[in-house]
Amino acid sequence: MFGGATVRAQSTYGFDNLWHDGCHRPASAAAFESIETHDPHAIDPLVLYATGIGASDYVSRIFPLLSALTIGDLLDVGAGGGQLGATVRERDRRWTCIEPSTAMRTRLSRLGPSLVLPHGWEDADVAPETHDTVLAANIAAPLTAPKRFLETCRRWATRNIVWVVPAQNGPRGLCLAGCLPAEWHGEDETPGIDIVLAQLSPEEAPASIAVADWTFSLIATDVPGLASYLADRLSWTSTDARRSELVEHLTRRARPVRGGFRLDVPRKSAVLVWRDLKK
Ligand SMILES: C[S@@+](CC[C@H](N)C(=O)[O-])C[C@H]1O[C@@H](n2cnc3c(N)ncnc32)[C@H](O)[C@@H]1O
Repeated sequence: MFGGATVRAQSTYGFDNLWHDGCHRPASAAAFESIETHDPHAIDPLVLYATGIGASDYVSRIFPLLSALTIGDLLDVGAGGGQLGATVRERDRRWTCIEPSTAMRTRLSRLGPSLVLPHGWEDADVAPETHDTVLAANIAAPLTAPKRFLETCRRWATRNIVWVVPAQNGPRGLCLAGCLPAEWHGEDETPGIDIVLAQLSPEEAPASIAVADWTFSLIATDVPGLASYLADRLSWTSTDARRSELVEHLTRRARPVRGGFRLDVPRKSAVLVWRDLKK
């Protein structure tokens, strides 16, 4: 486990503001973005995720677990909306992002990365040993191809590899599945960390694993629109009787806030670290 929760001064965001629960959060996320749900078919799941991350305490819960590491030049694999990478990066060092989604690259560009490679990790042209730290947070690779992905990360990193993977006993696929009954989402509820570790040999195991609880908080403009989006994602037919139950279910869980309503889903992440790689 890592030691103290020292916050590095050179973090891009700076941690001046306090989150409602007393936890630090990025200053740039002070005005929460909401997801427009009036047209459910227009919702991009990655935009929904990134919007929720912006209103969540994810970064402020995960970042302290990394603060003991010297990050140096950072390669952020599957950077998404960039909230974690922009906080973890050191101001005068490179922040290279690998991000295949156009919508996420648009978001990333606002945060000033050094370079964004528009590919998946499998095809990204990154020279060996050009980054001190490789970060992969909440991407599929550690669960679906851990050995091959670890080998690739080892080729790229000179100092640290950091993976952030789901650790809750609960669903980890559909973004809001955690606020639905299991019989509706139908997902495997094995903690992602167990799936990752079961596939790595003792020699491949990380040097440390730390765990953080956090809350995925999504602000959406209307309940029926979001319910319709979720029902479509669950492949329910347009006449499925559960659609109206889903609207009622979300309405009960939703809290009205400026810009719409807010849904909170408890999450847990494991932070796996391999360090001192090339010593
Ligand atoms: C759930 S988001 C995580 C974003 C960010 N790392 C975070 O922790 O908030 C997963 C990201 O992985 C990206 N992705 C999907 N396939 C990928 C691949 N093959 N290689 C790298 N990134 C990928 C998606 O576009 C998306 O931005």
